Amino acid sequence: MTLLDGKQTAKKHKERIAQEVCALKEKGITPGLAVVIVGDDPASRVYVNNKKRDCAQCGVYSEEHALPAETTQEQLLALISRLNHNADIHGILVQLPLPSHLDEQDVLLAIDPQKDVDAFHPFNVGRIMIGDYDLLPCTPAGIMALLDEYGVAISGRECVVVGRSNIVGKPQAMLLLHRHGTVTLCHSRTKDLGEVTRRADILVAAVGREGLITGDMIKEGAVVIDVAMNKNAAGKLVGDVVFEEAAEKASFITPVPGGVGPMTRVMLLRNTLTAAQKVIGAEVGN
Ligand code: GUN
Repeated sequence: MTLLDGKQTAKKHKERIAQEVCALKEKGITPGLAVVIVGDDPASRVYVNNKKRDCAQCGVYSEEHALPAETTQEQLLALISRLNHNADIHGILVQLPLPSHLDEQDVLLAIDPQKDVDAFHPFNVGRIMIGDYDLLPCTPAGIMALLDEYGVAISGRECVVVGRSNIVGKPQAMLLLHRHGTVTLCHSRTKDLGEVTRRADILVAAVGREGLITGDMIKEGAVVIDVAMNKNAAGKLVGDVVFEEAAEKASFITPVPGGVGPMTRVMLLRNTLTAAQKVIGAEVGN
């Protein structure tokens, strides 16, 4: 069994991104990311701080817009409009979840699709569907990069994705399909989940339920990707997969933490860089 080391792989990607950022700066463009956070959700605060630190480490300019919890939809949309028109900002990320009085879909729709570094805008979602995209949602993109780093073949293999969220499950299924995997997308109403997951050569678990995937649900030699970050009773971070059981069956497996998480973070930098590089492309008429 080989651990899919997301921390180490993300470090390599970060080094490459830092080099590309330098090259872009020589052409007079500093990639810029605006992170918008509304309210004081502690988990969101940690994520936002991490994103700003990642940017600084790679030479990407970042600015934070921290708005109070009582911010109105109009105020938030006005900020997004200003960021859409700010030439120094290539990526806009509105940290989710938003306070419940705000309309998340409307907010995501307001972001210029070319600056949508989460790739949550329906325009970008549609482009992913047809396989013609610049920006990919960070978690599925990170998982594909991790599989590639370890030379995991996808074409023709049985890929089972458990979880059908817009952010992970659905785009993950599409990316595996574009790479010629035979993809099954499962969810909470799938009958006999184990019967389906046991078919998987590549299994992606993205539900958010501790202990969901036990060893008997995994085929011998499977590649197991655990996206979830659940807190167990002891306050420890665990995935959906029972790691010790799965590790006895898997050929490759991600640890939690240190697997998918660091790859997700690095893909935000990659998307911000891609969005900035597109500006140069547009200037020279590419
Ligand atoms: N909240 C938790 N994960 C994410 C993410 O990937 N993007 C945004 N915008 N908010 C999040």
